[in-house]
Amino acid sequence: MLEVRLYGDPVLRKIAEPIDKFDDVLHKLIEDMTETLRAEDGVGLAAPQVGESVRLVLIDVTGGEKDPIVFINPVIFDPSEQKESGDEGCLSLPGITLSVNRHVRVSVRAQNAEGKEFVIENAEGLLAIALQHEIDHLNGLMIVDHVSALQKTMLSNKLKKLKNPSRDKSQTS
Ligand code: NI
Repeated sequence: MLEVRLYGDPVLRKIAEPIDKFDDVLHKLIEDMTETLRAEDGVGLAAPQVGESVRLVLIDVTGGEKDPIVFINPVIFDPSEQKESGDEGCLSLPGITLSVNRHVRVSVRAQNAEGKEFVIENAEGLLAIALQHEIDHLNGLMIVDHVSALQKTMLSNKLKKLKNPSRDKSQTS
């Protein structure tokens, strides 16, 4: 299982690089991320959250019943004008839930693990939210960036604790 990087880790703020090699290295990363997503009981996981600054996200809205959907180099298009606010958490922000305003419906174009392009039109519900949340990670954005400065100030103690975790990351091999 891979270590999930927490808020404050610089890799979460980088713009992730496009993927152009659909090789064993990528497939191993997808396998390890799938294991991590399941172990953390998450809905989605973006590669930067495990320290890999590449444009890859996994989403599972089935609660672990099926393999997660793999989105490589995903691009959102045709977002609905209508937006809705809903509570969101993030594996990189444990213990924090924030209300985030998102498009109700989005379409996405991406590549699968073999590099084949596919499209999902008019995703809605949890899938639409997860797509927007995970693709934000590829652009260095997190849920705290969607809340007001006041709300962020109110969160600042919790965020500081995440920035100074007790475990020493430099020791992990
Ligand atoms: Ni997240």
